Amino acid sequence: MFITVEGIDGCGKTTQLELLAEWLREQGEEPVLTREPGGTWLSEEIRRLLLRPGPEPVSAVAELLLYAAARAEHVARVIRPALAAGRLVLADRYSDSTLAYQVAGRGLERSWAEAVLAGATGGLRPDLTFLFDLAPEQALARAARADRLEQEDLAFFERVRAGYLAIARAEPERVVVIDSNGPVAAIQAQVRRLVAARLAQARREGDR
Ligand code: TYD
Repeated sequence: MFITVEGIDGCGKTTQLELLAEWLREQGEEPVLTREPGGTWLSEEIRRLLLRPGPEPVSAVAELLLYAAARAEHVARVIRPALAAGRLVLADRYSDSTLAYQVAGRGLERSWAEAVLAGATGGLRPDLTFLFDLAPEQALARAARADRLEQEDLAFFERVRAGYLAIARAEPERVVVIDSNGPVAAIQAQVRRLVAARLAQARREGDR
């Protein structure tokens, strides 16, 4: 099973993913915990290039292609092998980030982006995605550091948020929207309930 977490910077997704991984380990699962951009040597190098504030602006097309390149490596070298070995994969961001940030946020063409992403991932989609929804004013106040993307203005993050919510409306079976404006423990309880239900369902289907 392939589970991803998504949301704007500072939404709390990374904390929630780590707590979920901890709980799964207590249940005897051995989840593969990974992140995007990242997860392989090349993808981490691309991550450094993308997040470091540089002396010149980066074109949106180049940005999308770099995220896609990092994802292609990650899928081929980490995610697919882990899924093939029957592991549960937990990824901090995946293709929805590109559709939210580069398409909704930067205004790149959706059909082109979808074609690039399909090529990069070979069509691999998450089974379950948690979208941690939070107003940009609140989320950015939480984000400790300011990397290149976090230096964008509020209007950019409003577009990214709207992009994410549109994905969730289009794919309600896959994407669960979680209101991230609440105590960490209460949010984590919701996440665990949903993951437990999905794992039980997968086991039932596997037994058939
Ligand atoms: P991340 O490390 O998750 O940042 P944070 O923990 O602050 O949320 O993600 C790095 C940044 O990269 C984040 O600003 C979102 C951006 N991003 C994209 O713009 N497109 C993508 O496809 C991905 C994976 C990330």
